[in-house]
Amino acid sequence: MFRPAETAIAVEVLDEALAGDEDYRIVGAYERGADTLVGFVCWGPTPATAGTWDLYWIAVDPAWQGKGIGSDLLEEVERRLAAEGGRLLVAETSSRAEYAPTWGFYERRGFRRAAVVPEYYAPGDDLVLYLKDLRHGVLATPAS
Ligand SMILES: CC(C)(COP(=O)(O)OP(=O)(O)OC[C@H]1O[C@@H](n2cnc3c(N)ncnc32)[C@H](O)[C@@H]1OP(=O)(O)O)[C@@H](O)C(=O)NCCC(=O)NCCS
Repeated sequence: MFRPAETAIAVEVLDEALAGDEDYRIVGAYERGADTLVGFVCWGPTPATAGTWDLYWIAVDPAWQGKGIGSDLLEEVERRLAAEGGRLLVAETSSRAEYAPTWGFYERRGFRRAAVVPEYYAPGDDLVLYLKDLRHGVLATPAS
């Protein structure tokens, strides 16, 4: 479901992470007893923030989806961020219909839909921003 340009960026970011760039961290999920990569997550500190982290990519091979791998990858990120004093985890996603299961994935794991930026990616393709408060689990609702 990723566009070719998105895939190219993901590969570039993975290369940088593997080269030791601290701005991008990655964890892979492998088939038990094999070296076949079946999913990965990539995250990093959001520049010029205090304790905010970006969840850049999380993806599981379609043949392996729905088996708990994505949840395990996300839990691993949160475990590592807890150790680093992480405060806020930000996930950017698309309003395209094929991302509806992804929104559910985030929402059932403590993320809150915080903003929609209309037409951000392309005409008819909004940015949907999800946030997770890593310290309290639930984000305070701003006073109205
Ligand atoms: C979102 C994603 C990483 C979840 O990984 P996963 O291994 O399928 O997740 P789990 O098995 O731990 O959990 C499945 C949950 O995700 C949801 N889900 C999202 N897409 C799914 C899919 N294609 N197949 C099965 N479940 C899916 C299910 O509704 C389920 O929700 P629930 O457990 O709360 O009922 C994975 O489905 C994926 O790679 N999707 C495409 C890429 C994507 O959208 N990435 C995020 C934006 S960068």
